[in-house]
Amino acid sequence: MALLPILRYPDPRLHTVAALVSRVDDRIRKLIKDMADTMYAAPGVGLAATQVDIHRRVIIVDISETRDQLNVFINPEITARSGAADCEEGCLSVPGIFEKVKRAERIKLRALDAHGRSFELAAAGMLAVCIQHEIDHLEGKVFVEYLSRLKQQRILAKFKKQQRRVM
Ligand code: NI
Repeated sequence: MALLPILRYPDPRLHTVAALVSRVDDRIRKLIKDMADTMYAAPGVGLAATQVDIHRRVIIVDISETRDQLNVFINPEITARSGAADCEEGCLSVPGIFEKVKRAERIKLRALDAHGRSFELAAAGMLAVCIQHEIDHLEGKVFVEYLSRLKQQRILAKFKKQQRRVM
């Protein structure tokens, strides 16, 4: 089991736009395994490769109670969105912060699985919200950046203070 260090907001590396995975090989599968170990240990319901400082388009999500329903999406692409969800979100890169974000309630997406096979999925509710949150990471976006300027400043101040304490 390999646990990867998770970048913490406001680390500028979280703003990197991830590159497409051109070939799903053992290196990518090893990354997925390490990301899953890291997400389950945290514990969290989703993780993007961006958060472990690997800037490739790979995300994982598991919203099950039993923690054994791992969804892997490589090069995920949202092809349709509908409805509106207003869910409270958290993020392993922004620990302790939970805020509501507006998202589509239902999405359709296309991605590759861990064997490099293309598949399509329709997702709703929490799964749809998590997938949208994780895809944002691949675009270099952290969920707190949807919040008001005032809230963002408060969160930023809190994390900068923590950073100083660690250093
Ligand atoms: Ni996140």
